[in-house]
Amino acid sequence: MKLTQADFQERRDRLAEEMGPHSIAIIATSPVAMRNRDADYKFRADSSFFYLTGFAEPEAVAVIETFESIDEGYTYNLFCRERDREMEIWNGYRAGVDGAVDDYEADEAYAIDLLDEEIIEKLLDKQKLFYRIGQQADFDARVAKWIAEANGESRRGTSAPAHIIQLDRILDEMRLHKSEQEIKLMQLASNISSEAHTRAMQTVHPGMMEYALEAEINYIFGKNGCVPSYNSIVGGGANGCILHYVENDKALNDGDLVLIDAACEYQLYASDITRTFPVNGKFSPEQKALYELVLKAQLAAIDAVRVGNSYKEPHHVAVRIMVEGLLELGLMKGDIDDIIRTESFRQFYMHGTGHWLGMDVHDVGSYKIDGEWRAYEEGMVVTVEPGLYIAPDDETVDAKWRGIGIRIEDDVVATANGPLVLTKNVVKTVEDIEALMAKSKVA
Ligand code: GLY
Ligand code: MN
Ligand code: MN
Repeated sequence: MKLTQADFQERRDRLAEEMGPHSIAIIATSPVAMRNRDADYKFRADSSFFYLTGFAEPEAVAVIETFESIDEGYTYNLFCRERDREMEIWNGYRAGVDGAVDDYEADEAYAIDLLDEEIIEKLLDKQKLFYRIGQQADFDARVAKWIAEANGESRRGTSAPAHIIQLDRILDEMRLHKSEQEIKLMQLASNISSEAHTRAMQTVHPGMMEYALEAEINYIFGKNGCVPSYNSIVGGGANGCILHYVENDKALNDGDLVLIDAACEYQLYASDITRTFPVNGKFSPEQKALYELVLKAQLAAIDAVRVGNSYKEPHHVAVRIMVEGLLELGLMKGDIDDIIRTESFRQFYMHGTGHWLGMDVHDVGSYKIDGEWRAYEEGMVVTVEPGLYIAPDDETVDAKWRGIGIRIEDDVVATANGPLVLTKNVVKTVEDIEALMAKSKVA
């Protein structure tokens, strides 16, 4: 499935409506990032720019203008690279200005090189400029120059917009509430990522390198035309206690767990999954005890992703269950309420229980409104990812617990019918993981 121009147009309609009359919005895509001399990173469009345009080429700027009355509608213009036979032979196809009109439904399209010149006329006599301030310093400087230039026209009786409004406030809120189609795309991303984690469970063995296991995951992503939505974490043993471990360059040892936090994006919609499982296919008693505690916390936290609940409810639920369990297992001592109030559990659980998920893995959207945690609404997607990390040198706990790192992460939609788990295709109970790993391995 693919979003159509009708979907992108509906988003532009909504934005124009929010902008009101006499306004202009300027939205630039991401710059190309260089890796080193003459080698760039594969281009990935800016999420908000793509959200409004469906246009995935680099060097593009969308301009939306409203006029005296919103009943007059609005114009949507696209500045993009011109077609260029020689450049296309070297670097690939470009839609060009004709393609921008015919295939991307711009009212008018211009060569990107004309932006500095054309934008001044468009800015004159508008009352409000909607712009994503602070995303790209270079582009911010260009916008500031345009405003100065437009103000320089004041002798003609015209000037630049008097109000500059943070466009991200509007776009982020739109992106936070996912449509049915967006949920479907996220479901597809989740299915592919689940298949990748399943393959990892089926291929891992003692002595394998972490990067080799990462390659099994990348194989499934690549085979489905997807790329990772963030740098994959594949951490064996105590490496699982390093929250952003991405070296992935050590051997996986018999008797250790491996923590994999890896997922792909599908048509620019992300998934985000973590699974933790034994390298040799069998949990030790200590691994099992901690794993089942994290799983219990995770299941209860998922159940708390309900319309009307506070964004923080899953975190509170997960923390209480894990602290109770840590007290029972003897890893912590003291009063449960004191431990929660003072947050001394952060010795073992030092991150939050989730984040918004969407086109960006840490997606846009405010978490608080007027200083209060906001409530879940239908179509919001959040990760639920509690974990426990017992540092290898933590002498406050019995040696048998040290160096165990566990996180379990799923992607959950708040719906009218309760939480919908997008990533349920990959197993997560001790029994199911052990049964899957005991079955015949993938070659
Ligand atoms: N994979 C990034 C995260 O879990 O937040
Ligand atoms: Mn996450
Ligand atoms: Mn993750």
